[in-house]
Amino acid sequence: LGTVLDEHLRYISDWRRLELFRTAISAVVRPGDTIVDLGCGSGILGLLCLKAGASHVYAIEESPVIEIARRTYAREGMAELATFVRGMSHRTILPKRAAVVICDHIGCFGFDYGIVHTLRDARSRFLAPNGTLIPRSIRLNVAAVESDAARAKVERWSAPAVPEEFRWLRRLDIGARHAIQLQERDLLSTPAHLADLDLSADNADFLRWTASLSITREGVMDGIAGWFDCELTQGVWMTNSPADESAIDRPQAFLPIDDRIRVRPGDRVLVTIMARPVENIIAWTVDVLPQGLRYAHSSLEAALLSAEAVRRTRPDRVPRIGRNTSARMTVLSYCDERRTAREIEQAILSERPDLLPSRDETARFASQVLAEDTDP
Ligand SMILES: C[S@@+](CC[C@H](N)C(=O)[O-])C[C@H]1O[C@@H](n2cnc3c(N)ncnc32)[C@H](O)[C@@H]1O
Repeated sequence: LGTVLDEHLRYISDWRRLELFRTAISAVVRPGDTIVDLGCGSGILGLLCLKAGASHVYAIEESPVIEIARRTYAREGMAELATFVRGMSHRTILPKRAAVVICDHIGCFGFDYGIVHTLRDARSRFLAPNGTLIPRSIRLNVAAVESDAARAKVERWSAPAVPEEFRWLRRLDIGARHAIQLQERDLLSTPAHLADLDLSADNADFLRWTASLSITREGVMDGIAGWFDCELTQGVWMTNSPADESAIDRPQAFLPIDDRIRVRPGDRVLVTIMARPVENIIAWTVDVLPQGLRYAHSSLEAALLSAEAVRRTRPDRVPRIGRNTSARMTVLSYCDERRTAREIEQAILSERPDLLPSRDETARFASQVLAEDTDP
């Protein structure tokens, strides 16, 4: 749980972020409102809604951090005002629609945490007619950057300590999702607006945007930075811009290029960004115009997809149930709503000890399947 605690400590101790959410909540939430806190994490946003007069919160969270929310609500005497649902929102069914759906799925770039398709689903199934989404829209921004810290990230595989046979991984690492805390002085161009996402509208599954950047100072370009201006509710904006002193505590996205390119004031850089947020894929091309250089990278490179994994996604393939799934189905076939988990494990060990390569592993597997793949 260590890293989960670290992550959420950062969210809840970011006072600027909380102040902006509090302002948006007090403008939107009415006494008696039902709220969906989507990806509730520590539970902080739902708690703020209750304190603003909401009557009930459906707190949905896929990770174990939901226990922090559950226990915090209980400590605050608010356990009765919340329903906790552990799981992905897309697979969650709620008994009623809510006046407000609230989340912080904004990521570092604005679209890189799945907000487009997550809120599309939440809007259609969780939100009451005339209900309100917080946030409501996101503006994406890009700029050219020169940053030793950013460059060091993609050069870590070329470091002398890395055995030579593995230095080829630098190429893959360029396509990985990099988050970096930049300063205004790291920017080589004026920021450009890449896109505006209206979260109340249906956005396409494939997104493609371009921006033209004008270099404003001499330097060496390491890549492109991306960040958001997010409108939580009308007139309440939250940003992680490196050029804004009131920015929240969140790094920017960094999209590297393969080389370091010397640029001068007046040079133009064309950036194209393509994304399939549902599949968590992003690709970018960067054209440095006066030099006629083009760089193209994609997060697919860093995904380490095997040829077999790609083959499996082919729609014309006839799927066959694999060994582990078949073992899982065998374990579940013992559930008859009468026997206890212990009785089922004993039955499997005596009748199917060879289900997995060893008896020990069969026992472990059976107890894991019974714990994870059955109703609470
Ligand atoms: C950026 S954190 C924000 C947590 C909290 N709402 C806050 O503002 O501090 C997003 C949380 O959403 C959870 N999450 C992401 N996608 C989800 C989904 N589709 N359904 C449920 N939980 C999700 C993550 O596990 C994570 O805890």
